[in-house]
Amino acid sequence: MASLPFTKKLRVAPSLLAADFARLPEQIAQIEAGGADWLHVDVMDGVFVPNLSFGAKVIETCRLLSKLPLDVHLMVVEPEKYFETFAKAGASVMTLHVEAAPHLHRQLSRIRELGCAAGVALNPGTPLDSVREVATDLDLLLIMTVNPGFGGQAFIPESLDKIRRARAMLDASGSQAVLEVDGGVARDTVNACWRAGADTFVAGNAVFGATDPAAEVRALRSLCAEMA
Ligand code: DX5
Ligand code: ZN
Repeated sequence: MASLPFTKKLRVAPSLLAADFARLPEQIAQIEAGGADWLHVDVMDGVFVPNLSFGAKVIETCRLLSKLPLDVHLMVVEPEKYFETFAKAGASVMTLHVEAAPHLHRQLSRIRELGCAAGVALNPGTPLDSVREVATDLDLLLIMTVNPGFGGQAFIPESLDKIRRARAMLDASGSQAVLEVDGGVARDTVNACWRAGADTFVAGNAVFGATDPAAEVRALRSLCAEMA
């Protein structure tokens, strides 16, 4: 595993996708002030998902603006084309989608060779079995709680059971992987995810759509921490 601060149990990872890009330095400073653990960076290629977002240039900018680990979520086909560039740009974690990764084991090894932590994401319709064989090779497992491509969608309630099963699968295999959830995570859903076994919470609109993003990061954390 790459040397990242993985020992802390509960992580809040605001998603850059919902930030106001005209005020990027200020927005990043706000989430840092609120104690955000990671910055989640959504890369979309308009092929794997029906939306385009950003690439290496923005990762580089975030690296300059913040010391937070950059949690790069690759919603792209042929993700291996970007590993090297994104690692150089400053990615700390790179998470690819199993639906776009026929050579998952090799791709995870390649990410680690580049000095990053390696994660796999699963769409809501993708079974956990698709990652069972690589459970011990994972630094992070991302359970999508919406269909990827857009911020601001409603949390899919059936995801809670999948999070529980993912937790059990990781524990049974002895994997130390981070269990992250992404999509529709907000004050009304974060605690249920935490109780189901997730430890890392991506939140876009909940954080950057709030009047006070710093307070929102703190609120999400304390909604889980009171049950820790
Ligand atoms: C969705 C992205 C998410 C998105 C989450 O495809 O992977 O990271 O930014 O946004 P919210 O928290 O607004 O659902
Ligand atoms: Zn994401």
